[in-house]
Amino acid sequence: DKGEYRHFMLKEIYEQPKVIKATMEGRITDSRVLEQALGTEAANLLEDVNHVQIIACGTSYHAGMVARYWIEELAGVACSVEVASEFRYRKHVIQRDTLFLCISQSGETADTLAALRQAKQAGFRAALAICNVPGSSLVRESDLVIMTQAGPEIGVASTKAFTTQLTALLIFTLALARHNGLDEQREADIVKAIHQLPGQVDQVLALDGDIAEMSKAFMDKNHSLFLGRGSQFPVALEGALKLKEISYIHAEAYPAGELKHGPLALVDSEMPVVTVAPNNDLVEKLKSNLEEVRARGGELFVFADQSADVRPEEHIHVMQLPSVHEITAPIVYTVPLQLLSYHVAVLKGTDVDQPRNLAKSVTVE
Ligand code: F6R
Repeated sequence: DKGEYRHFMLKEIYEQPKVIKATMEGRITDSRVLEQALGTEAANLLEDVNHVQIIACGTSYHAGMVARYWIEELAGVACSVEVASEFRYRKHVIQRDTLFLCISQSGETADTLAALRQAKQAGFRAALAICNVPGSSLVRESDLVIMTQAGPEIGVASTKAFTTQLTALLIFTLALARHNGLDEQREADIVKAIHQLPGQVDQVLALDGDIAEMSKAFMDKNHSLFLGRGSQFPVALEGALKLKEISYIHAEAYPAGELKHGPLALVDSEMPVVTVAPNNDLVEKLKSNLEEVRARGGELFVFADQSADVRPEEHIHVMQLPSVHEITAPIVYTVPLQLLSYHVAVLKGTDVDQPRNLAKSVTVE
């Protein structure tokens, strides 16, 4: 039931504060991750992991890409991420003590399941699943399961499944990091930031009207470019995927540092450029990318931390977001991009919840 909402997608975007909270509940205290809440075997399975291999498709793959930044930064454990349909059809080397991590909303994606089954034959330490559907094939075939508590996701374009996957992945990363020397103070600091997420997402949802206004600039465009750096690069990828899926506008995402290596040639006034710019040490570099785009007559749409000092100017539209912890920023910055694609699609009159050619669960190759 859509209730007061016009589409399931919008309802699911608005459910995010609640389902992010449900996903953290019982798994963290005020300052610590409760490892036993991840399963009685968790402590044993996470000890001595020296490589994490993440496998997923689509939006879930983007969640895995964010997690790679967290796992290497906080746990100091090597992490590889690959789309399931590539992984399963190439010869791969699985290192000793690899944790195999599959991320899937449905738990029934054919390529992801095939990759897991294949990897089992090659041998690894344990299989962890991050999944939203209890009793799904993925859940049944994994050693350790962290359920996202998103509830049923009806809209084909994944929204709340993604942000709850990220929440679960961050909690998992902290548990893994504790086995690898993360100090208590840092853990407490990040757990505190996790607790702030529902409130911060609410603050972003309050920008809905402004984002709807901003979306008008995309309505008659055929192409767009999304830029991000570091853990915000996958957020840019996810923003671009949402826009293509539901508004049918061609959207490409690039790590901002790659701009000069090719895509800058495409930039002109017909190519809106969307940038996510939290207040971290990469923001100065991002500002110079913004200049490069502006100098080519590009129209810029920047989602920036209110303390990052990115100011609106001619051709630079700035949407200020609440100040957030650098580690949790990808979760918060995803939300305005979901809203942007939603409003563009509504303006274009597409079938938001059921985009052409797409199925909710891809159970065949
Ligand atoms: C995008 C989308 C798809 C899914 C992908 C994986 O909005 O919904 O890209 O993310 O098909 O599905 P799951 O997570 O069920 O394995």
